[in-house]
Amino acid sequence: MSLRCQVLKQRIQCIFFGTLIALLPGPSASIEEPSASTKEAGQQYYVYNAKCQIPFVNPFTLDVMKNMKEHVFEECSEERDLIESKFDFDLRQYRVSIPANLSEAYLNSTGHQTITCSYQEIKRDMEAEVPDNAYAESKAYYLPHRMIVPIDTDFMITKCYMRNATTVLNEVQEDAFSFVQDKLPPQKIEHYMLEREQKPSVLIMGLDSVSRINFRRTMPKMFEFVNEEGWYEMQGYNKVGDNTFPNILAALTGHSEAGSRAICNVSEVNCLDRLPFIWRNYKQANYLTAYGEDCVELNALQYLKPGFLKQPTDYYLRHFIVALEDKFKLRHRFGNVYCVGRHLSFNYVFDFGLQFVERFVNETPIFGLLWSNSFTHDDFAAPAALDEHFLDYMERFEAAGLFENSIVVLMSDHGHRYDEIVRHGPNGFLEERLPMMFIYVPPWFRQKYPHLVKNLGKNRDRLSSNFDLYMTLRHLLQLDSQSMADIEPKAPQCASCQSLLFELPFNRSCQEAGIDEHWCSCHPTQDATNESFARPIALAVVQYMNDHLRKQHLTDLCHDYTLKHLDSLQLKMPVDANDEPRNANESYFVVNFKTNPNSAHFETTVLYKSITGGVEMNMDFISRLNSHAKDSGCVALEIPRKYCICKNSVRMEDQLHA
Ligand SMILES: *[C@@H]1O[C@H](CO)[C@@H](O)[C@H](O)[C@H]1NC(C)=O
Ligand SMILES: *[C@@H]1O[C@H](CO)[C@@H](O)[C@H](O)[C@H]1NC(C)=O
Ligand SMILES: *[C@@H]1O[C@H](CO)[C@@H](O)[C@H](O)[C@H]1NC(C)=O
Ligand SMILES: *[C@@H]1O[C@H](CO)[C@@H](O)[C@H](O)[C@H]1NC(C)=O
Ligand SMILES: *[C@@H]1O[C@H](CO)[C@@H](O)[C@H](O)[C@H]1NC(C)=O
Ligand SMILES: *[C@@H]1O[C@H](CO)[C@@H](O)[C@H](O)[C@H]1NC(C)=O
Ligand SMILES: *[C@@H]1O[C@H](CO)[C@@H](O)[C@H](O)[C@H]1NC(C)=O
Repeated sequence: MSLRCQVLKQRIQCIFFGTLIALLPGPSASIEEPSASTKEAGQQYYVYNAKCQIPFVNPFTLDVMKNMKEHVFEECSEERDLIESKFDFDLRQYRVSIPANLSEAYLNSTGHQTITCSYQEIKRDMEAEVPDNAYAESKAYYLPHRMIVPIDTDFMITKCYMRNATTVLNEVQEDAFSFVQDKLPPQKIEHYMLEREQKPSVLIMGLDSVSRINFRRTMPKMFEFVNEEGWYEMQGYNKVGDNTFPNILAALTGHSEAGSRAICNVSEVNCLDRLPFIWRNYKQANYLTAYGEDCVELNALQYLKPGFLKQPTDYYLRHFIVALEDKFKLRHRFGNVYCVGRHLSFNYVFDFGLQFVERFVNETPIFGLLWSNSFTHDDFAAPAALDEHFLDYMERFEAAGLFENSIVVLMSDHGHRYDEIVRHGPNGFLEERLPMMFIYVPPWFRQKYPHLVKNLGKNRDRLSSNFDLYMTLRHLLQLDSQSMADIEPKAPQCASCQSLLFELPFNRSCQEAGIDEHWCSCHPTQDATNESFARPIALAVVQYMNDHLRKQHLTDLCHDYTLKHLDSLQLKMPVDANDEPRNANESYFVVNFKTNPNSAHFETTVLYKSITGGVEMNMDFISRLNSHAKDSGCVALEIPRKYCICKNSVRMEDQLHA
């Protein structure tokens, strides 16, 4: 195979097997630095330069909109609360009470009834083998009508009963409360409001699986909110790994998934504790730290992994949510746990975050991570049901002073990975790879560090990644740095990654941003599905996958693959003729194909070497475009789970056709 490209009068012309296959607008002196999105020949781009061109995708095309289900927000319970919890800022403790006017509604005046409540404390179970999957509960104590919550109680669940003079009648309400108790660091900063310029608070809010395209499509109110002053969208933010874990890992540790293996095996207890999570650096700098996430099954750092042995942050929600999902009635919606007892699983996380902010944002530097899966993980249209509710929370955070003081990051980890409508649609490749990322800087920061904010503005339409976010979080702890050279250490797996508060190179390649070729959205593609070499490439990929099963000793569990159908073969075009391919006899292709048995649907990016007919690829970076849930029950590890077709899960009709 031969692919040759040359720059001709500001055009890149590529000749592929003697045929002119592409004429692209090439780099030229006339290309100005793009503003938010550049128009070029009618096409708009998120990023447009000599190394990277990421097209803007219209979120509202008919193919998606006509299939978009309308989802409305639903509360979990219409019932009034029986119990109130409030922080008493004078006493510096929480008070819970059962106000008479709240319980009256439940009482039957003819029966001489009263309400009686009890509570159990929920703690992390330090004795458990996997404490992140366990919880400990105290016995049930009587809950008086007014109580000051003991300072060592972080979480409680309550039960209220109706009773008459002699007998306990029915249970009327079960509820749960989190308390953000005082854990101020030993060297508490006495005059934080004067000191905050050195130690800005940071709050990261994440919605899982929301591409910037889908965010615009489904959350118009929030989109308007993040267009207000102080917010900067990183329109060139491209994911670095397939699912949540590698993307969050890169943002919080600077490590890639493969790189973390040099330290320890994340499938073993006590490994995450050894990885250099950024909250440790914040802790050392005397910040208070918090991490909360909904949907136990899907948690970013615990999915199919044992999680942390020691509690990683000062305030940590995991064992509380584990307890609630275990003890309370669950209602599923949008493919996930939607209600946990009387409340949205989303609310537990954001109420906890709000408590954390209300308590401390004016007192001490804080670092928090709030992550939600419940609305957004499985249904691309469901963020629409969250839009207004999320905006309500933003307004409450605003009232608590968050946006006066803190750096806020609103982000996602990746887009939808197997949704029929968006992922299998014409822009599925981009939908999957371009998560949303908005960074807010408060007014005082804009005043004190105008040069940094100017850089952030310039970086809006440059290619960036989670490794850059990691370096940004490091930079915020070293704001007196004059340049990237002053910020140490660098992201372990991306030495050229850098703080978003310093100017990114205008012409930046995926490699320089720590983004593997498979995830890279920078290249225009050219269809090659009907070329004579298409099927041989697909067969070479399947061969590679079978060899991989053998090398990984997975052949006892996983069935061999045969090619069922090549859906498409796309040639990744070099953006800059001087850039790629490295060798005229090698090219990158995106291969989209189905295999038997079970009609598993995959997408992979391969380097095809025409001389040998061989392919280079990486099974860590293979996308599974349909759900693997019914195929891979026999393996526990996260990566093989997306490609293994278990021998004991082979479906009969596919076996016959295989
Ligand atoms: C980007 O690359 C193009 C083509 O190589 C070059 O002409 C241009 O000067 C570069 N721009 C910057 C800002 O480096
Ligand atoms: C209950 O009474 C308190 C003050 O006594 C009042 O602030 C609150 O609004 C009342 N709640 C309801 C639901 O009536
Ligand atoms: C109140 O109690 C009476 C007598 O015990 C009973 O008939 C009635 O249904 C009760 N009403 C409610 C609202 O529970
Ligand atoms: C309390 O309720 C129980 C069950 O309904 C009933 O048998 C009993 O008579 C009631 N006692 C009083 C004092 O009303
Ligand atoms: C990591 O640990 C898991 C669970 O103990 C084990 O199954 C797996 O083989 C280990 N992986 C490596 C690369 O050692
Ligand atoms: C490939 O060939 C098929 C069948 O001849 C045709 O329907 C399809 O449009 C072709 N695709 C491209 C991209 O040319
Ligand atoms: C590509 O292949 C041709 C023909 O085999 C060979 O002459 C040429 O040197 C190769 N180019 C490179 C850069 O390896």
